[in-house]
Amino acid sequence: ESWLAGFIAGIAAAGRRDSAGADAPAATIDVLIGTQTGNAELVAGDVVAGARARGLGGRATALDDVTPEALAAMSHVIVVTSTYGEGEMPDNAGLFWEALQSDTVPRLEGVRYSVLGLGDRGYDDFCQAAKLIDTRLEQLGATRLHERVDCDVDFEEPAAEWTAAVLDLVAAETGAKGTGSGAAEAPKKPRSQWNKRTPYRSRLATNRLLSAPHSAKEIRHYEFDLGDSGITYEAGDALAVVPLNDPALVGELLAHLGAAGDEATAELLRTEREIRTPSKELIADLVERAPSSELASVVAHGDRSDLDSWLWGRDVLDLLRDAGPAAPGLAELLPFLRPLQARQYSISSSPLAHPGSVHLTIASVRYDRYEGVASTYLADRVGADSTVGIYLQPNASFSVPADDDAPMVMIGPGTGIAPFRGFLHERAARGASGRNWLFFGDRNRETDFVYQDELTELQQRGVLTELDLAFSRDQAEKVYVQTRMRERSRELYAWLEEGAHVYVCGDASRMAKDVEKALLAVVAEQRRRGGDDAAEYLANLRRAKRYVRDVY
Ligand code: 2AM
Repeated sequence: ESWLAGFIAGIAAAGRRDSAGADAPAATIDVLIGTQTGNAELVAGDVVAGARARGLGGRATALDDVTPEALAAMSHVIVVTSTYGEGEMPDNAGLFWEALQSDTVPRLEGVRYSVLGLGDRGYDDFCQAAKLIDTRLEQLGATRLHERVDCDVDFEEPAAEWTAAVLDLVAAETGAKGTGSGAAEAPKKPRSQWNKRTPYRSRLATNRLLSAPHSAKEIRHYEFDLGDSGITYEAGDALAVVPLNDPALVGELLAHLGAAGDEATAELLRTEREIRTPSKELIADLVERAPSSELASVVAHGDRSDLDSWLWGRDVLDLLRDAGPAAPGLAELLPFLRPLQARQYSISSSPLAHPGSVHLTIASVRYDRYEGVASTYLADRVGADSTVGIYLQPNASFSVPADDDAPMVMIGPGTGIAPFRGFLHERAARGASGRNWLFFGDRNRETDFVYQDELTELQQRGVLTELDLAFSRDQAEKVYVQTRMRERSRELYAWLEEGAHVYVCGDASRMAKDVEKALLAVVAEQRRRGGDDAAEYLANLRRAKRYVRDVY
């Protein structure tokens, strides 16, 4: 099966070191960033600091702010990029990538480069944006200084190793002498005291159901005490939550493996391993071990989407049961369980309006016996006497306009409303005079209109100028936020012309794409200059950082 081979091969790829040595001019290192969530920005900051420590110049730029001509003039280029959606460029790299496809793109013979990919091996198109850029730069004649390294979710170590290796190569070939040399790293100033390894232990002050008890959905509002953490955030940032697994599930799993009562393993599984979502490695292993299992048959006879839908709502224990006696035992299973990851959520509060506190708006994931790890941990398992590990994940590109007078258009169905609640409170607290327009929707008005009271109050105070609602299941035909955008085409375009910033938050796989189509349709309809003109109009908004997304 070629897709299965690719799927499994994707697991094996790892960064290798390969040095290239030749003459090059004394260097300024251009660090080009493609990022959706800010991790690439963090790494880029380290690269610049490391370059300076070695007596090299360093400057960081977003990929979209670099033209092919500017690129051709650079001597040393370091690309640090994440990947968005299904193997697509992150939002601040799409224009760069498009420009590199042009027939008139200059050759890059003078450029020496290396690429770092940031991603998640759980996705099929792992580090695809990094792979594409790496290959394209080579095709255009640039010289690869160092093999690309693709980092999994725990990116810090491989990223630091790659950074040191690349910078050492550049320093060696340019004869640059820095304050520290060789592998000696510049002392790193912690960006925030709290991180994955040492999260701040916060008191969960509020856990409130927002949706109606009889809604098909369970959407909750959480408030975390920032106490003496010193954490300062901005509306639009994300908060990482370090979850714990459900002890009941740990118990079931151990009982199935014949290891009930193994306290040490129970603790390991509860605090350090992903035991809900099966890893690709585990899936590949089970297919091999149990060729007559249902899983193996789906893999043999179906395609990737068949596998995805079969896996939907099934967890590690379901797969072990499916594999029957051929399933791995505890010792063989452990290496296939990935480290338990922190989960990131868009913050739904404003530090000005909610000092000392950070709020999240989260849908609890539950289908039958399948329960989302972090969402149900917060919903069900944080007692009054316990604390939750949190740390800040800044997202500088997703924030209210610096100009308080600029209009904002916010599109956030479902829990996509989260950052916009923060934005509206932020603007109210600032006394910002810019107009604010929210497109929100969910299934049913009666059960799912979250924050209705607050939104009404913000409307009365004149902060929320326009509110368009799309409740998809209140009538026979589906009505989505993009339906409302098209209905209000004329006004929406007028806002854009008046300098509005457009924000989209929520589902990346369908909603964000459909919303983009609607935006293009609105612009095309109002300008009457065709599709290319509309695409260019939207590209300009992106360049001006007036069309930004926080989608997942
Ligand atoms: P549905 O589930 O009734 O199809 C939040 O989940 C809201 O987003 C729901 O009302 C959901 O509608 C809607 N939704 C589903 N697919 C969407 C899409 N492609 N674009 C916009 N909204 C969508």
